[in-house]
Amino acid sequence: MDNPDAFNGRLAHYGSFRGVRNHIALVGPAGPGLDEACGYYGERLVLLAQAVGLNTCWVAMTFSKKASEARVAPGEKYSLCIAVGHGETSGAAHKVKPAEKLFQATGAAPAWFAAGVEAARLAPTAMNQQRFRFDLGEDGSTVRAVALPAISCGKVDLGIAKLHFELGANAVSNDWRFA
Ligand SMILES: Cc1cc2nc3c(=O)[nH]c(=O)nc-3n(C[C@H](O)[C@H](O)[C@H](O)COP(=O)(O)O)c2cc1C
Repeated sequence: MDNPDAFNGRLAHYGSFRGVRNHIALVGPAGPGLDEACGYYGERLVLLAQAVGLNTCWVAMTFSKKASEARVAPGEKYSLCIAVGHGETSGAAHKVKPAEKLFQATGAAPAWFAAGVEAARLAPTAMNQQRFRFDLGEDGSTVRAVALPAISCGKVDLGIAKLHFELGANAVSNDWRFA
């Protein structure tokens, strides 16, 4: 939506945003699954936008929900948004944790699992916290995605990481599932 006001306040500058005209508001039925779903489906939009040459940034804190024109019906919650546009740069690589810190598996992990973890490792997280872990079940084909205690946005980050895991793992094998 053409709605620059949502990014015109002091908060937006704290988040070092300038000139953001458009954002995708992630709104849905209030409930325990909302934030993870917003992360999962929102990241699909992020990857699509990036693939067609746009730039994006997830934004939970440093914008004004009040000034956003998104409509929130009774029983719904405004989880967060994604700024979309043409960035001055396309972003820079940032430090990520070693893969060993992001999974648990007994014995050698299968190639699809390693590919999933690697893709999740490169996923954006709020304040680059990376507070998630993927655990491979004893059966060798079930994956439990765990949100570890985080300062904020832990569930959104988990949804984002799960989408990345799925895309990475499925490029090698579809013979697995989330618990
Ligand atoms: C769920 C989520 C919420 C975020 N909220 C904000 C925010 O409120 N303000 C901000 O400046 N950046 C926010 N970010 C951006 C991250 O802090 C971080 O910059 C980004 O994920 C890493 O990518 P980059 O290094 O390419 O910017 C958020 C990221 C995610 C995944």
